[in-house]
Amino acid sequence: MHKIAASTIDWDAVRGDFPILRERAHGHPLIYLDSAATSQKPRAVIEALRNFYEHENANVHRGLHTLSTRATEAYEKARRRVAEYIGAASADEIVFTRGTTESINLVAQAWGGKFIRQGDVILLTVMEHHSNLVPWQLLAERTGARLRFVPVLDDGTLDLDQLSSLLTPEVKLFAFTHISNSLGTINPVANLCAKAHAVGVLALVDAAQSVGHLPINVRELGCDFLAFSGHKMCGPTGIGALYARAEILDSMPPYHGGGEMIVSVTLEKTTFKKAPHRFEAGTPNVAGAIGLAAAIDYLEQIGRPAIFEHDSQLARYAAERLTELPGTRVFGPTDERGALVGFVMDAAHPHDLTTFADQYGLAMRGGHHCNQPLMRRFGVSGTTRASFYFYNTMEEIDRMIEILQAAVRFFS
Ligand code: ALA
Repeated sequence: MHKIAASTIDWDAVRGDFPILRERAHGHPLIYLDSAATSQKPRAVIEALRNFYEHENANVHRGLHTLSTRATEAYEKARRRVAEYIGAASADEIVFTRGTTESINLVAQAWGGKFIRQGDVILLTVMEHHSNLVPWQLLAERTGARLRFVPVLDDGTLDLDQLSSLLTPEVKLFAFTHISNSLGTINPVANLCAKAHAVGVLALVDAAQSVGHLPINVRELGCDFLAFSGHKMCGPTGIGALYARAEILDSMPPYHGGGEMIVSVTLEKTTFKKAPHRFEAGTPNVAGAIGLAAAIDYLEQIGRPAIFEHDSQLARYAAERLTELPGTRVFGPTDERGALVGFVMDAAHPHDLTTFADQYGLAMRGGHHCNQPLMRRFGVSGTTRASFYFYNTMEEIDRMIEILQAAVRFFS
């Protein structure tokens, strides 16, 4: 990959690192505005996966041969890379998972199963993705715990005035998203963690929409758990991580049972490895972890502050231009926002709009975005969402507006 100076990034050259962006859809150049669902992958990540399968592929932690040693070293190096990337104190605080959803389920089952009792409360917010809601509903059903929610204001921010009265002594965990996948709201994570800790409550951050877009340091944020996926940050699908503070992870029982997480097994009883290996039963996604580390290397060459600046400019520009369209309602904060804009148009249902846009090569997402309670809060069944990453351009947003103008004419 070319060298990129922080202050003078050649974004066109960066875009050239993504082979898929040269695809066409329905005869038009592809305009990919669906990175909040999954990001595209740079050549460096694709090559890292290929290199692993051509030169290192073997199972990890169990072979004594050359390839197994190489694979194990690469896998554990990837764990150290993830730890550095999010500012964890040690690689032992990183569990590889399939992604954000599995990371949160792991906490709900392993930590929740041990520490949550009838009458306890898990505090969430109304803007949570289903992956940070349904695991807690399942835990509540199993244990008799209750869920409570921080409301969302009309401008798409959390109603923080309610927080002190919601953080009562029964609350054991406050789990919230860093960036809303439907509204683009950036929540004040450090402040929310501090408020939770002040009353002895642990804090879990869903960083799915933030970890590839802005600098994150778990120790500065002060969170106890952080969950994220590789595929939204230029990495492969099927790999992600859970960060948990060492003393919390050490206190948690295993999540899945199987090979590689044990110290010794008899027919009657098993003793388990220490964290994080205790939580990684079976053959892990070795290639995925190596691909994720390559994605981190790639993102850090560009620099997350520059990525964030570029992304937010795109999102703000898109939000502004969308308000020019007749009968269009834009959701989420008007000033600072993550790299996405959700909107509805009187002219057409989000599904019809996204299908229409696809005919012109424009990829967006239409629907409830795994955010049904939030959609209900705003009185809609779904929205159309345009989401951005550093490989998108202002010209693509202008083209999106032209296509949406054509949609207004077509559907009216
Ligand atoms: N959570 C992803 C999204 O918001 C899939 O699209």
